[in-house]
Amino acid sequence: MYCRPIRLVKIGLLILCFSICLYEISIFFYKSKRTDIISGKTNSTEQFSLKPSKEYQEIFEKLSPFTVHLPKFFDEEAKNWFYNCTYYKINSKKCPEKNCEKNGVLFNDPKEHLDVYLAFVRNGLYTNEDCGYNYDNEAMRRVFENEKDIPTVYETAFIYTVPDGWAFQHFLDGIGPKLSHSFTFLNKYPDAKVVILRGSRFDRSVKEIWEMLGVPEFSRIIHHSGGSRIGARLLINPCRTPGIHPHLWHNARKMYWSISNISQTNDQSKRKNFIYIQRTSTNAANGARLILNDESFINLLKKHCETNSLNFIQYDHSKDSNHIKYRIELFYNARYIIGVHSGALSNMNFAQSGTTLIEIMPYRSGTSSLPMTCSMFNPLDIKACAGYILYTQSQLLNQTYWILPTVVNNDGNMNVNLSRVENLLQQV
Ligand SMILES: *[C@@H]1O[C@H](CO)[C@@H](O)[C@H](O)[C@H]1NC(C)=O
Ligand SMILES: *[C@@H]1O[C@H](CO)[C@@H](O)[C@H](O)[C@H]1NC(C)=O
Ligand SMILES: *[C@@H]1O[C@H](CO)[C@@H](O)[C@H](O)[C@H]1NC(C)=O
Ligand SMILES: *[C@@H]1O[C@H](CO)[C@@H](O)[C@H](O)[C@H]1NC(C)=O
Ligand SMILES: *[C@@H]1O[C@H](CO)[C@@H](O)[C@H](O)[C@H]1NC(C)=O
Repeated sequence: MYCRPIRLVKIGLLILCFSICLYEISIFFYKSKRTDIISGKTNSTEQFSLKPSKEYQEIFEKLSPFTVHLPKFFDEEAKNWFYNCTYYKINSKKCPEKNCEKNGVLFNDPKEHLDVYLAFVRNGLYTNEDCGYNYDNEAMRRVFENEKDIPTVYETAFIYTVPDGWAFQHFLDGIGPKLSHSFTFLNKYPDAKVVILRGSRFDRSVKEIWEMLGVPEFSRIIHHSGGSRIGARLLINPCRTPGIHPHLWHNARKMYWSISNISQTNDQSKRKNFIYIQRTSTNAANGARLILNDESFINLLKKHCETNSLNFIQYDHSKDSNHIKYRIELFYNARYIIGVHSGALSNMNFAQSGTTLIEIMPYRSGTSSLPMTCSMFNPLDIKACAGYILYTQSQLLNQTYWILPTVVNNDGNMNVNLSRVENLLQQV
């Protein structure tokens, strides 16, 4: 008899395929026995109880698509500027019925805008992923086999490793939306550690917000330097969540109001603060973006407040040594907020829906390198840009956003055109 190697190979392949299939099927059943996916509202801790037999459980919520309206324009210059900017060039393609003025820009990408996850992993292993919507599905389910292989294993730990989450601005725009759907669990696991990224500093305001959430730095916060892996017998991961969605931002705002015990009232007549967020050469981490005619600018604002019975407040965060709860209250009572593009404008996160926000947007005339707003003049050079983050935030928070684009000098500083400001104040 003679050997038929082809047939042997065929049989071998068949057997291989069959065993792979069997393996996959058994893994599937094994996994579904050990994992549990709950779809629905993430805000209710009562509805969710962790089952001891499950290796992996998650709460999943799909939020609705949302639109972001264009800024309000008080003059043609502001409008032309915005219509020429990269943000508009990228996003105007996403306006329903091609009508951006009427409908705004539609955000409906499942991963980037809609899908919210909160994962509970037994013997979970964190391997230094950035905390964001790009968090990999597999990474989220990663477990360790042998505790001895992992440098640090906590009993229970939350992951909030958003880049720069130790800084006030990025706590609000990065960690805030992740807390929005997970903060109630911080109380449910009062001994759990909270892992954040180590920074060059740890802003006092951030530390105080964590404290109000029941997470004191000394006993619960882990400043993680990256590099080494972290394990937890129960790892709670809220990371795979959109960075922007009005629902998440509104919930986070309610959370700030509630943990700071400020008195909340529907009486809008009490809302009288007109807050000028002042950027000075001493209070800003980066140089530039200073208003050179600050004195006459301030006088103009003061006059406007006098005639309209508003409290003029000049806010310089470097001079504010009070507990963050007072700042939350100050901004809760804001009716107007004005300031040059700057991280300090993120205090708008504490202000109510309907607050008027005026952002003075510095840009460099005649060049394609703009301090904050990326390229505007070269239509081929389109990049996403952080310069519009405050505009987006304000719209997510259902506030009324006005833009005042202003040319800077060679040092990046500016003279604000007072007749334009007057015109603007008459319209808001
Ligand atoms: C939380 O969930 C409950 C019911 O599950 C719902 O009635 C309520 O509106 C939700 N709250 C928020 C802020 O989404
Ligand atoms: C862009 O800016 C130019 C002036 O720099 C202006 O003439 C033009 O109308 C602007 N484009 C739009 C779409 O507004
Ligand atoms: C808010 O009130 C609660 C309950 O009275 C209290 O435990 C908590 O310390 C207060 N928080 C702040 C920031 O004052
Ligand atoms: C948005 O703000 C307006 C008031 O400015 C208010 O009437 C409306 O209910 C708010 N919408 C949401 C979803 O908060
Ligand atoms: C200030 O703005 C007004 C109105 O747009 C304009 O006519 C005037 O030339 C501007 N002044 C300067 C110094 O740019």
